Amino acid sequence: MKETVVSGIRSTGKLHLGNYYGAVKNFVQMQNDFNCYFFIADLHSLTTHPTPADLHGNIKHVLVEYLASGIDPETSTIYIQSDVPEIAELYLYLNMNAYMGELERSTSFKDKVRSNPDNVNAGLLTYPVLMAADILIHKATKVPVGKDQEQHLEMARTFGNRFNRLYDTPYFPEPYAFNYSEKLVKVPGLDGKGKMGKSEGEGNAVYLSDDPETIRKKVMRAVSDGGPTEENQEKPEAIQNLFDLMKVVSSADTHEHFSDLYNKMQIRYGDFKKQLAEDMIIATAPMRERIMDVAKNDTYLRQVAKHGAIKARESAQKTIKEVRSLIGFKSF
Ligand code: TYM
Repeated sequence: MKETVVSGIRSTGKLHLGNYYGAVKNFVQMQNDFNCYFFIADLHSLTTHPTPADLHGNIKHVLVEYLASGIDPETSTIYIQSDVPEIAELYLYLNMNAYMGELERSTSFKDKVRSNPDNVNAGLLTYPVLMAADILIHKATKVPVGKDQEQHLEMARTFGNRFNRLYDTPYFPEPYAFNYSEKLVKVPGLDGKGKMGKSEGEGNAVYLSDDPETIRKKVMRAVSDGGPTEENQEKPEAIQNLFDLMKVVSSADTHEHFSDLYNKMQIRYGDFKKQLAEDMIIATAPMRERIMDVAKNDTYLRQVAKHGAIKARESAQKTIKEVRSLIGFKSF
């Protein structure tokens, strides 16, 4: 039997290079190797209160970009989270043995409290429980994610194991982050400060659907500095981030060439950024073309979502039936 993979992406906008290199890039290979469930995490996106129109548009973006990445809805199961109410039911059960202390200690929760003190809602606190439900509902063991999601995977294992102990049965297997290589990926943003993300401010993220001119503009405006002042000096964060981005999109030779120039204090940031932008354009071009193609076909998108919901619910209903019985719900 093939192992099961579950992958989710929040419907908060278009996909960027972080999403791509952290997760999406491996989808096609995974779909051949494993039994795959790819879903759009629209329930998770409600923590930030989108308008109905924004919510729908963003779900479409992710669905289109999933398909553009090469996922075949016949081979894999591709669905929208809110079409599978069994996930919300499992979330409720798991919430009964998720503790305030551990949820409050989660790094992503603490980050959100800091960045958004006016919207510390219960959905945000229990975000990792819903994510665990997404994964455990299909008894997945492999989860393609970037480095930022590692702690959530650890929490999913905790909640699954706790359920197993409570009901004295090895029901849920342990899910692990997975991407075919040893290390999980962290793609930095262009603002010199940390990871690429949709909520990190304008200009920080390069989207897969950005046209070449937009990519060039964003990269040329990326935060840098006045240049190295000593040979072989350690790179400040903003410069290291640009080199890390180059490592992701450019060839090893190109990366080495500019590293050498930096170390010899001969680098010209203009040339460096130009090269980085051109390599980003090359890396995103095939996706961009397919995104534009798929987005036009609403009938196809409707069919895919409907078919996916049926397949996902089959698996989810089996789990919920077993979970209900383990918990002790019985009909009279
Ligand atoms: P989200 O929507 O923030 O990100 C989707 C995927 O992209 C990866 N990612 C990155 N990887 C490397 N560098 C970056 N800068 C970067 N930014 C984003 C994320 O690691 C993720 O793989 N909680 C999830 C959504 C989710 C989920 C799940 C994932 C909900 N339920 C169940 C897997 C399984 C999230 O916030 O993704």
